[in-house]
Order: sequence, then C-alpha cells, then structure tokens
Amino acid sequence: MKFLFYSLCFFLSLKSFSQSYSLPALKYAYNAYEPWIDAQTMEIHHAKHHQAYITNLNKALAGTKMEALSMNDLLMYASFRSDIVRNNSGGHFNHSLFWDILAPIASQSLISSELAEAINLQFKSMDSLRIKINQGATTRFGSGWVWLSVTPDKKLMVSSTANQDNPIMDITKERGIPIFCIDVWEHAYYLKYQNKRGDYLGAIWNLVDWGIVSQKYAAALNDPLLVEIEKDNWMELKEFHKVMAQTFHPAETDNLEPLKKRSAELMAKSSLLAASVSPKSLDKPAIKIALKQLEKQCIEINKLNNKKASNAILKKKITAAHDTFHVVQGLCHD
Ligand SMILES: [Fe+2]
Repeated sequence: MKFLFYSLCFFLSLKSFSQSYSLPALKYAYNAYEPWIDAQTMEIHHAKHHQAYITNLNKALAGTKMEALSMNDLLMYASFRSDIVRNNSGGHFNHSLFWDILAPIASQSLISSELAEAINLQFKSMDSLRIKINQGATTRFGSGWVWLSVTPDKKLMVSSTANQDNPIMDITKERGIPIFCIDVWEHAYYLKYQNKRGDYLGAIWNLVDWGIVSQKYAAALNDPLLVEIEKDNWMELKEFHKVMAQTFHPAETDNLEPLKKRSAELMAKSSLLAASVSPKSLDKPAIKIALKQLEKQCIEINKLNNKKASNAILKKKITAAHDTFHVVQGLCHD
C-alpha cells in the first residue's frame, strides 16, 4: 500500500493535471538519511534546489502550448526546448526519481529476483555494477548525474549526463528509461563531504531501496516510452516524419504549396526510410510492407505533382500517404 501511495505521489508530481508541477513529499524525515546524508543537506536540496527547478519550470511553461505536454514529451524532445525548459524539466524529473529510490536501511525492501538476475547477467555481480556506476559518477566533470536505465532492447545500461540532462532526452546518445540515479552536483554532498565526491559515493549506496528500483525495472520493461525512444532514434523515420508533417498539415487546410515545392524531397525521404535498417525491436515484416507502400505512394505524389495534378488530387494522395504513415506508427507499438 505504502509503495502504491508514494508511486501515485511520484506520478502526480510529474503530471501536469493542474497545468503546473509541485514538489513531491519526501517519504522520510530530512534526518532519516543520516549519517550518510545529513538533514541540512536533505532539506536544502529538497526544499530549495528541487523547489527552484519546479518554480522555474512552471514559470517557463505558463501560457505556452507546452503546458499541455506530459513530462515525457518535455524530456523526449529536449532538443526542441529552450535551455530553461530543458534544465528545469530535467531538474524536476531527476530529483523526483532520486528521492524515490532512497530509504533508510530499516525501511528498505529487497531487490527482485528478475532485477538481480539481469544485473548478474550483464555486470557479473552487484559489486561490479556499483564500481561501474561509481566510475561514471567520479569521471563526470562538473555537475551531473549517473544512471542505471532500461534500454529499448530491454537491457540495463549505465551512463552519465551533464547538468540536468537525462537518458530520456533526445540530446543524449545513450537513451533509455532511468530506474536509478545518483545526483553528483556538489549541492548533493558539499556540506558534509566538501569536495570529496568519492566519500559521498561510498556512502550513498547505504540508502538505495532496491525494492523500489526493482518496481521501476519491471515498469520500465513494459513502458511504451521505450518504443518511443527507439522510434526517435530511427533517424530515417524521424526525417521522413518531419517532411510529412510540414507538407501534409498545410494540405489539410488546402495549402498545397509546401507539398508542391517538396514532393521530390518527400519521395527521397520515403525511399531512404524504406531502405533503412530499422531498430531491432521494430524489425517486423508488417512495418517493412507498410514502408514499401508508403514509398510507392510518395513516388506517385511526386509524379502527379510533376504533371501539374490538381490540388484536390494531391490533397487526396497526401492524405492517403499520411494514413499509411499512421499505420506504420501504429505497427511500431503493436
Ligand atoms: Fe540535486
């Protein structure tokens, strides 16, 4: 029950039902993390630093279309966001996850057999994983985070990011859904450990609630966000999508000019997409067939355009191609 309650708090704090984000309550008192993290550090980190990310994020989103976006959308397409939105949405998400996986020893729950097996299989042992994560944290220059994530091919991955970036963001190379993290900003440890990041990294492992990390592992394996990330890493799909959106949407309102100017480009991108190597989990015959169909339609659109076909015909054809593209998108999630 307790897990369900705090999971709900975690998700509510990340969902903008009320168009603004709020500070998630900590599960334990500020002094419950001692002696490894002192109460004053916890309080300043949570009530001041984390709160500041939320305040700045709400301010940046207020009155914009981004108010309607989910946290996943804000993070996934970070490359399209301003630095303020990128840093503060990351700041809110990252700290929420960090608080969630920490617990005093007496309150910690055990690791699941599934996660323990996956760790042993990939990293040989929990100790080797710990060493790898601490290496990532030690070598992170300046401020940032170290992560354990689930990748689109459902493997575990250790990575680190600068500032408030995280593995969900399209600006990071190593992408996945994070299930564990360590904050290596100085504000996370400076009061107690000063410049000794290594000492803080030695201590923090006493506070990891592996039961919670296991719950996040199980949830991440079935999260549709993994497919979104994999699709987003499929560059030919992304490139085609861009041209399709920029030609089809004007056509919907009877503006065929963008399509007339870019039909050759649309055709070329559809051919590149049909010939591309798809990500592993999207390597399905039905997707290949749909992409061939899409290519055929885009070739026809370009031919018709070269023959000065009417706006009505072009609109009908781009609408049909757009429908096929939606079939492809749907198949990616089956
Ligand atoms: Fe922090």
